[in-house]
Formats: sequence, C-alpha cells, structure tokens
Amino acid sequence: MKHFATALFALAVAVQPAAGEERVIRMSTDNTDLVLQVSGNGRLYQTYLGPRLADNVTIPSEAWSVHAGSGNGVAGRGWEVYPGSGNESYFEPAVGITHSDGNPSTFLYYQSSTTRAVKGGTETVIELKDDQYPLYVTLHYVVYPEENIYKTWSEIRHEEKKPVQLSAYASTMLYFSQPSYYLTEFSGDWAHEVQMSTQRLQPGKKVLDTKLGSRAAMHMYPFFEVGLGQPVDEHAGTVLMGTIGWTGNYRFTFEVDNVGDLRVIPAINPYASLYELKAGEVFRTPEFIFTLSYEGTGQGSRNFHQWARRYQLKDGEGTRMTLLNNWEYTGFNFDEAKLVSVIEEAKKLGVDMFLLDDGWFGNKYPRSNDRAGLGDWTVTHDKLPGGIPALVSAAEKAGVKFGIWVEPEMVNPKSEMFEKHPDWAIHLPNRKTYYYRNQLVLDLSNPKVQDYVYGVLEGILKENPGVKYFKWDCNSPITNIYSPYLKDRQGQLYIDYVRGLYNVLDRLAENYPDVQMMLCSGGGARCDFEALKYFTEFWCSDNTDPIERLFIQWGFSQFMPAKAMCAHVTNWSRGTSVKFRTDVASMCKLGFDINLSGMNEQEFQYCQAAVANWKRLQSVIMDGAQYRLVSPYEGEHMAVNYVDEARSHAVLFAYDIYPRFQEKLMPVRLQGLDPSRMYKVEEINLMPGRKSSLAAHGKVFSGDYLMKIGLNVLSLSKTRSCVVELMAQ
Ligand code: DGJ
Repeated sequence: MKHFATALFALAVAVQPAAGEERVIRMSTDNTDLVLQVSGNGRLYQTYLGPRLADNVTIPSEAWSVHAGSGNGVAGRGWEVYPGSGNESYFEPAVGITHSDGNPSTFLYYQSSTTRAVKGGTETVIELKDDQYPLYVTLHYVVYPEENIYKTWSEIRHEEKKPVQLSAYASTMLYFSQPSYYLTEFSGDWAHEVQMSTQRLQPGKKVLDTKLGSRAAMHMYPFFEVGLGQPVDEHAGTVLMGTIGWTGNYRFTFEVDNVGDLRVIPAINPYASLYELKAGEVFRTPEFIFTLSYEGTGQGSRNFHQWARRYQLKDGEGTRMTLLNNWEYTGFNFDEAKLVSVIEEAKKLGVDMFLLDDGWFGNKYPRSNDRAGLGDWTVTHDKLPGGIPALVSAAEKAGVKFGIWVEPEMVNPKSEMFEKHPDWAIHLPNRKTYYYRNQLVLDLSNPKVQDYVYGVLEGILKENPGVKYFKWDCNSPITNIYSPYLKDRQGQLYIDYVRGLYNVLDRLAENYPDVQMMLCSGGGARCDFEALKYFTEFWCSDNTDPIERLFIQWGFSQFMPAKAMCAHVTNWSRGTSVKFRTDVASMCKLGFDINLSGMNEQEFQYCQAAVANWKRLQSVIMDGAQYRLVSPYEGEHMAVNYVDEARSHAVLFAYDIYPRFQEKLMPVRLQGLDPSRMYKVEEINLMPGRKSSLAAHGKVFSGDYLMKIGLNVLSLSKTRSCVVELMAQ
C-alpha cells in the first residue's frame, strides 16, 4: 500500500511543470529526494539530492542556478545530469561521442519523461536528444521507497548514417556540494579481498577502476562509500553508498571541481573500449545502485541488504543450503570411493548438500592439476568410473543434495577443446601468449562460444537432473586481449564479453530457474549485483583463515546481505579452534570444506550442533537486519547481531582476536531489538560438555537494557568466540 501511494505521488510530480515552465522531476524514497529540473535552456540539471523534502516544496530557480544555471556567465554550465563531451563544462563528461561526421560534441536537450509503477517502487524514464544530430539518450531511474535505494542506468542510440564512436558511457552522474568528502574504498588482491581504507578527496580526480575483463574485482571492488562532510561512520552521519552492476571493467570517478563540488561518475571502464555504435543499436549501461543514509553506513548496508534480498539476488527471499565441499580436503586427489565417503560424512554432519569441486573431468588430458583438462567437460573415466550419475545416486541414497563445480568460460591450452577450437580463446595472434593459472578465457563475444558455454551446463543437467547446484568459477582475468571473432572491432571485446556472459546466464535462468548457483572467481572477484541476479550466493574469498575472514566478511557486508556470502570452515586456521572457525562462518551462509574425519569426536559433535543451530536460526541470520557492533578495524574484537523482522528473535556473534594485555573491555550493546520487550539470553554453539561462562546466560533482560547496557561477551582470551541467541518472551 505504501509503495502504491508513493508511486502515485511520483507520477503526479513528474508530469507537473513547476513555476516558470521549468519541468521538475522529483524522485522520492521514504527518506531521500532526487530532484532534476529542466532549465530555461532546455537542458536537464540536478537541483537536489538529499534528505526528503516536505511534499509541497519546489526548488526556486535562484536556489539551483548557482550550480545548474549560467554560472560565470556561460550558459549551461553546472550540474547537468548527463553532460556530453565537447560542451561548455570543463569537467568529466558522462558521455563521450564522436559523431559519424567527426564532430566530437554532444548537447542533450530534454524531450519528455514518464513514470510508472514497477515491483517495489517506481521507474522514471527521461528522454534526451541532441539538437543537431539524431542522437538519443534515455535515462532510467528506479526508486525503491521503503529500502531508500535508487537504481539508475542510461541507454544511448542514434540514427546517424554511419556508426558513432563512444569513448565514455556513464551509468549516471551525481553531484554534491559539501564542505568535505571522504572516500572509503575497498581494495585488495587474491585471498585479501575488500580491505577498507578512507581518504579525503581533494580537488581533481580520484579514480577507482579495474581492467580484468572477465570479473569486476580483485585489486579494487565495485563499490564505495563517500562520507559527506565527515569520514564515514557506522552509526552516524550522511553517507553515499554506491555500487555498479557490471561483471567486468568498471570505473568510478570522483571529481572535486573548482568550487569544491563533487561529481560521482560510475561507468563501464572505457579503457581499450572505443565502442562503435551502429544506427539503431542500443548501448545500455550497467545499473548503478545507490543509497543515501543519514545514520551512517550501518543503515546504508541494511538498505542494500533488504533491497538485494527483495529485488536483486536470485531467489533472494528463499532459503539456502548448508554444504560440505571437497576442495580444501582432497584438491584434485580423489576417486569415487573417496567421494562417496565424503558424501556420507556430509549426511552425518547434517548439511544439506555435497559439493564436488574441481578435478572431475578430462580424459585425453585429465584434470589432475590446474595445468590441463579445462574445457573437456566429460568425466574422467579412470577416476570416476560410474560418472556423475553414480555420485548423484550416492548423494540421493545418503539423503543429501548434489552440487558440482564448473569453470565453463575457460580453457587450458592442454585440452581437446583448445586443440579443436583455438580460435574460441581470447589470445593475441602475433605475440607470445601469457597465462593466468595456466588458462585462457573463451571469447564470449562470439555467439558460438556462448552456445558452447551454455551447453556445458545444460549437458550436465540433462544427464543428471539430480544436480541441484553449481559452483561457477572464473579463475582468470582476460589476458592477451584479442578476439579472433571481433577482428577489426576489438574495442567491443571487454564489453561484449560481459554481455555474452549475461546471454548465457539468461538462457540458463530461463530454462533451469530452480538450480541454485554459487558465483566464484578465484575467491571473491565476482561480487557485483548484476551477476547476483543469476546467483543465489558468492564465494567471498579463498582465504578462510577465520581472522582474515572477520575483515573480509565485514567488508563485503557493507553491501552484500549475509545470505549472499558463502563462508566455509576449513583448515586455514592459524591455530584457531574448530569452534572459532565455525562461529565465524556461521555469520554468513555456512558451509564446510574440511576433512571431517580429521576432527576429534568432540569437535565433530560441536559441528553437528552448530549446523543444526544455524539451520534453526537461518531465517534470523539470512533474512534479519544486520547490525555491525564492534569493528575489527578498531581493535582486537568484532561483534555483529541479527534481528528478525518481528524483533522477537536475535543472534549475537562476538569474537576476540588477539586482545592486548589488560585492555579495557566494554560490554557489547545490541541494536535493533524492541526496547519494551523482554528477551531470554542463551549462549549457544558451546563445545560438548562445556557450560556457558556468560553471566547473562539463561537470564531475561529488556531490549532497552540489552541496547543501552549490553552484554559482557568479549574477553581477553585469544581467538575466542561467543554466540548468543535472544528470544523475546
Ligand atoms: C578457485 C576457487 O576459489 C576455489 O574455491 C576452488 O574451487 C578452485 N578454484 C578450484 O580450482
């Protein structure tokens, strides 16, 4: 009902011209307003982005002309929503176009706008057109009022006689005027994902980008936070949080101009991507998704989590399967008997699924290490004589589901596939080839290759309808960038690769909508919201050391709901207990990737109970609101709590890392509870035979007490964890 009312309001605003014939396009969430206005010159400017305004407010032109009107006497300079190259702005344009006659300038004029209701909110579509060329840009804004999220993208097309060249193609452009801006970025590497750091933005440009081709991330992750007027804080202050839905090269430009205003420009990275756009073809940019939070990053993250579960993640409101994977245990070294024994252990542990990892395919060149076999998707007969069907039936017999690893976009040169189709791999014709993990990336710009990649998955599913889950890996960035298929249109490769991938994923989603899938890219390098339309979850990192994971999970949780984040218990332990490792993984989508027979009886029993607890609490952890309470970046502890929608059930996770000698310990104050209700506090996930040492264990406290005074769950012990369940009475 609330959505519907807002939809009507937005419709009314969009069609109503304001005083002085200036058209006003107002896009409101419950908390925020984005206002665009058409100036007297016929062009479109951003006049407001901030806390929601009173409903009857219009922004008089003297208030917005400072930025959007005729500053310094030059008509049109200012906060143009989608500025073109070669116009009178001296700053970064949103779109760079060289027309078919060689003219490098574009001036876009407002034509029309419409608003309609869509699932969860409203979509406003604004048409712009160049006054001298048949060149059109359509701006799209989908507004989700309840989650306070904006999703925006653009479409560029033309009817010129010959193709035009696109050298820049932003998804959108946002402007801010604040005394200062502090950018928090997420950088890292393989096994060192999403490390957070903050810096003040100075005049000029700061660019975050990647050029990895087949994935968005590794050295830089496709999201950011900007503290407006102060550095970002978990619980206070205004923060812009944004992310781009693009599984390839992206670029975020933050430009502070001569008067101290900030432009934020999210885009596909135009690096080596001069795009030739034919008449009639539509260039659709990726979606840029953002929220403005006025209560720090914690609220901003909850906006994203709720939105992602409701509208973006594949099966975002469904349940997830706990699993046992064999990668960290067996690597490539297994046979049928070994896997059957692991399947039986999965059942004993109580998880929902066994996931067979890399190493099950290839005959002429068996995949017994990462140097051969990739591309030959027939089971290795010597290793697995009964093939996948025998394993699926062993899983069915044991009573667990069966999932399987694939890496269908890649090929080892040592494979039958490469021998047959060398021209299907991206590689340079006249240079020495270099490899990343001994493999090459297949050319998904080629429709034949798209068919082949789709066929890999379909082949497995047709032979084995019992396969319920894929782990889809992508270990190599694009190397040796050259497409034998695109020939003289190499500027399209980076972009068409990603579009080819989406074609394959669309077909799969259409024909096999119920198969759950984990997105994996040599750890957490594929972690964007466009890919996550097709995947139920993603692998955060190959680094499963629980202490590193506290940081990695903290980083990803800024944008990603716990439900999308796979966390497995492994032997990457740095001497930590099985309990500590399991408690860290239990904050996300729980799985195991470990030799269970290497555990002692107590540890195994502990894991069984932890799995049962996680399944019982799944709806709180996966679907509840997450509150980050104690940051690992600020000391030697970490704590997070989750609260279900009814605020009747909550789980608190608290960890001690390496506390200092006699450091001052503070109680952890929970968040999100109902202050007026009483909650029973119970420590769970205890080792068998151990009693809780928590003074509050078994007692009842008000939400008010728990949020203002808190619980003494932290200690001075090294690598210790405490999991507490809170149940309203
Ligand atoms: C990289 C992934 O991140 C690992 O989990 C594992 O699946 C290997 N690839 C297999 O080659």
